[in-house]
Amino acid sequence: MQIEHITLVRTPQGTPTEADFAFGSGTLPAHAEGQALVRVLALSLDPYLRSAMAGRHLSAAIHPGDVVRGEGLVQVLESRHPRLTPGTQWVAQCGWRSHALLGVEAIEQARRVGPEVQPPTLALGALGMPGLTAWAGFKRLADAKPGDTLVVSAASGPVGATVGQLARLAGCRVIGIAGGPEKCAWVTRRAGFDACIDYRAEDLREALRRHAPDGVDIYFDNVGGDVLLAVCEQLAVGARVVLCGLMAQYNGEAPVPLNPGLIIRARATVRGLVVYDHWAHFAEMVAEIGAYIRAGQLQFREDISHGLASTPSAFARLMAGRNQGKALVVL
Ligand SMILES: NC(=O)c1ccc[n+]([C@@H]2O[C@H](COP(=O)([O-])OP(=O)(O)OC[C@H]3O[C@@H](n4cnc5c(N)ncnc54)[C@H](OP(=O)(O)O)[C@@H]3O)[C@@H](O)[C@H]2O)c1
Repeated sequence: MQIEHITLVRTPQGTPTEADFAFGSGTLPAHAEGQALVRVLALSLDPYLRSAMAGRHLSAAIHPGDVVRGEGLVQVLESRHPRLTPGTQWVAQCGWRSHALLGVEAIEQARRVGPEVQPPTLALGALGMPGLTAWAGFKRLADAKPGDTLVVSAASGPVGATVGQLARLAGCRVIGIAGGPEKCAWVTRRAGFDACIDYRAEDLREALRRHAPDGVDIYFDNVGGDVLLAVCEQLAVGARVVLCGLMAQYNGEAPVPLNPGLIIRARATVRGLVVYDHWAHFAEMVAEIGAYIRAGQLQFREDISHGLASTPSAFARLMAGRNQGKALVVL
């Protein structure tokens, strides 16, 4: 069968560009016993892929010449594995391809997407890996209490927006940090955060002092860099810091030094988050966030590009921080 795919041409230097990738075509062999042939409906673009392209991620590296790895929403066309019935939809490791042959391991790790998930692409965002990241970080690591002031960076993305809304629903005061007026407007008007600081336009430290005069009880960090430093300077006594992501470093920037005195002064607890540790809670997360979404209490936003060929430019936009919500490619 003839298929289309995207390969990594070279390891990106700095922010990825379209020229780091190539669109190509190839053939898939007939599926063997234990395998399934799937059509890719949508691809999830996730920042960790940039680290994998640099060989710096916990998961396997993506090398030049490889078809780019990644999760997608897929539909089963033909199957010789009992778990996957033709016609059903799943989230699976399909890679940046139009069609994929899933082997036993990918099939065993695949997650069913039932008709109740609407739109089904939510299974890649607020009801998928980013949703579990937000849920686990907030519910299992942040030790939140009603009345706490929570700050979250990359606040309009699938992780940040979900964290902030779970915190709002738990009775916290929620302050987002996001780049640009459009993101900040969505965060306050649609996602219902109490405030959002546009760190590209405002003095972040002054704005944090203004919005959190008594200090920040919980900081959910999606970016690292100077934003992490600035929030640590404003921590309340007993603060919890959840370290989730490193957007300020993924493109090769050097880490910024963090003064441990800031943590000592606040008697803060700092916890690193790896979503894979929380996989056993996936169904619990889907039940809770799914109910909030159906009740209209939790908003989500998708940044959709169309066609496999648009994947490199969409990924470059994500890694430059220009996405407006969960970055997806619909095929
Ligand atoms: N620890 C884990 O297991 C785990 C799992 C999933 C995701 N994560 C992490 O969670 C974070 C958010 O993920 P997401 O999928 O929700 O992504 P996202 O928020 O949709 O996209 C990333 C955002 O990061 C912000 N950003 C801040 N500094 C940046 C910089 N120097 N360059 C580019 N962008 C910058 C941009 O938003 P602004 O313009 O608003 O700043 C950008 O839109 C990422 O760091 C990701 O790696 C961690």
